[in-house]
Amino acid sequence: MVLEAGDMVRTSFRAPGQFVHVKCGEGLLLRRPISVCSCMEDEPVDTLAIVFEVRGEGTDWLARRPVGHSLDVLGLAGNGFAMKPEGRYLLVGGGIGIPPMLGCAQYTQGKSTAILGGRSADKIILQDRFQDKCAKVLIATDDGSLGHHGFVDALVRQELEGDQNYDAVLACGPRPMLRNVARVAEKFGVPCQVSMEERMGCGVGACLVCACDMADGSRKHVCKDGPVFDSREVNWDV
Ligand SMILES: Cc1cc2nc3c(=O)[nH]c(=O)nc-3n(C[C@H](O)[C@H](O)[C@H](O)COP(=O)(O)OP(=O)(O)OC[C@H]3O[C@@H](n4cnc5c(N)ncnc54)[C@H](O)[C@@H]3O)c2cc1C
Ligand code: FES
Repeated sequence: MVLEAGDMVRTSFRAPGQFVHVKCGEGLLLRRPISVCSCMEDEPVDTLAIVFEVRGEGTDWLARRPVGHSLDVLGLAGNGFAMKPEGRYLLVGGGIGIPPMLGCAQYTQGKSTAILGGRSADKIILQDRFQDKCAKVLIATDDGSLGHHGFVDALVRQELEGDQNYDAVLACGPRPMLRNVARVAEKFGVPCQVSMEERMGCGVGACLVCACDMADGSRKHVCKDGPVFDSREVNWDV
């Protein structure tokens, strides 16, 4: 879904990996967080693209909005990936964690490598866009219907065995995937940042719904302190 977003990108873009908090429906109390897939400053209005999967009532309502309809959107929210346009990154996206990695690929103008994973071939989305924006794209599927038969962390290992000159591994996807990718990156001594997915309430640090346990025993808000964290900050054992 492409949104005309006023001056939202010009005024609040900090880094790829930020999200928008979208009011989904009249009756639902809470907004729904959706990552920015890509965004562009433009005159007179900025544009931003989101890619989402229908999971429940909110995303179902959102998917049925007609072209030209107005949405109530807060953003750009959260802290994205700490990255430099001149850097070279290993970008890892799993399932619906794939879209925000496209923004990272765009940011580094063709230098990064993408590893995309999903349950089956039909879950590997935006592959041609990544091919346009990355030096290399590798695919893994759980059922072997496309690319490597298995999980993305095996491809992360394979890639880092041959090339450790990445500035960092950046990952978004389900928690078990993030944990495994973080372990591989750590083994090779490559810094790793992860985008954590937690349910959200207020989206601005006021309600604690999105609390995430940290390795030092503290709890942080995914909405305000994240969603991106250094992988060593996160307590993976809870
Ligand atoms: C920072 C962030 C970025 C996100 N970016 C995207 C994105 O780019 N594209 C996308 O499709 N989704 C994204 N999500 C997930 C998205 O917010 C949820 O799918 C959405 O809130 C579900 O709302 P709903 O009303 O449709 O479903 P609900 O009726 O609220 O829930 C339906 C089912 O989904 C589960 N669920 C809902 N939210 C989450 C969650 N955050 N984590 C795990 N399970 C959940 C519920 O437990 C339930 O089983 C993101 C989440 C976060 C926190
Ligand atoms: S969603 Fe309320 S504190 Fe993060």
